[in-house]
Amino acid sequence: MSVNTTPLSEVESKIISTQIEGQQQYADSVFPFVYLCDGSLPDIDCTVPWVTKYRDRLLEQATTHGAVLFRGLPLPATEDFDTFIRALSLPNFPYKESLSNAVRVNRTEHVFSANEAPPNVDIFFHHEMAQTPLYPRWIMFYCEHAAQKGGATPICRSDVLYNLLKENCPEFISDCEKKGLQYTNVMPGTDDAASGIGRSWHSTLGVETQQAAEARLRELNYSWEWLEDNCLKATTPALPAVMEVSPGRKTFFNQLIAAFSGWKDSRNDPAEAVRHGDGSALDADAVAQAIQLADDIAFDVQWQAGDAVLIDNTIAMHARRPFEGTRKVFASLASKQTHAFDLS
Ligand SMILES: [Fe+2]
Repeated sequence: MSVNTTPLSEVESKIISTQIEGQQQYADSVFPFVYLCDGSLPDIDCTVPWVTKYRDRLLEQATTHGAVLFRGLPLPATEDFDTFIRALSLPNFPYKESLSNAVRVNRTEHVFSANEAPPNVDIFFHHEMAQTPLYPRWIMFYCEHAAQKGGATPICRSDVLYNLLKENCPEFISDCEKKGLQYTNVMPGTDDAASGIGRSWHSTLGVETQQAAEARLRELNYSWEWLEDNCLKATTPALPAVMEVSPGRKTFFNQLIAAFSGWKDSRNDPAEAVRHGDGSALDADAVAQAIQLADDIAFDVQWQAGDAVLIDNTIAMHARRPFEGTRKVFASLASKQTHAFDLS
């Protein structure tokens, strides 16, 4: 632990809000909001009083704008990122308590690898864990090492997407709102790191036996079927597909795009992955439009080592571009929330 000797006033003068190339401008927000530091702060400990002082404002900015990018802070390693996020004083949502279907590896108590899927695998837009009854309010990403080529994390304002869908596919969005969505995925008996959705049912459900898995699924209101090779096919109850985050501000809060485009591996067929909450099929043309519209309004976070991003998971979606070389991007989740089951 170093002794912090940099006065807060100096830190305040060095971390400034700024514009960035490609930043989106909306009536009363930008995307993403950006803080830039000139790289001269000695270590992360000196920014802790700054984060503590401005914590509420930072969270508010993440909600208003969708995401806050920090560039140039002294964050050379995951331990520094851990210190940074601890300063935000948010309740940690550990990976092992989540129902995420991605394979991840913890680095510190708060920080884990973003997804162990191979470099050539595209991860499509989603709100983190919106396909499960439990999801984090906040997601923070950190880049320890940027890929030689590619590997950006695209982010997308989901309230903007909702408004576009309302304009372009009114029937589809109304169906999504009324019926919600249900997701089906087949989990292997042991982790399959070659897949973006390869987390085993043991790990996903935090259980040892099939009997315990069934008890957990019953508790979660899922339906299920055991398949050969010890695989488990599970279907969620109807989950909301749209969230009203504040009066009049709605977001396309779901995993529709990721499930429809990307839940593909030796066990899973994307055509089976997502349906409306009443079991009816989705309008494939409307889904294609949603995918296109989300891409149109994407902002690519082109990682630089030491970057950190704070995202309000109820406002902005994220994805991952394929890459070449070594890419070390880590994530941290905070503030566990529960989906409302009742769509009536
Ligand atoms: Fe994610």
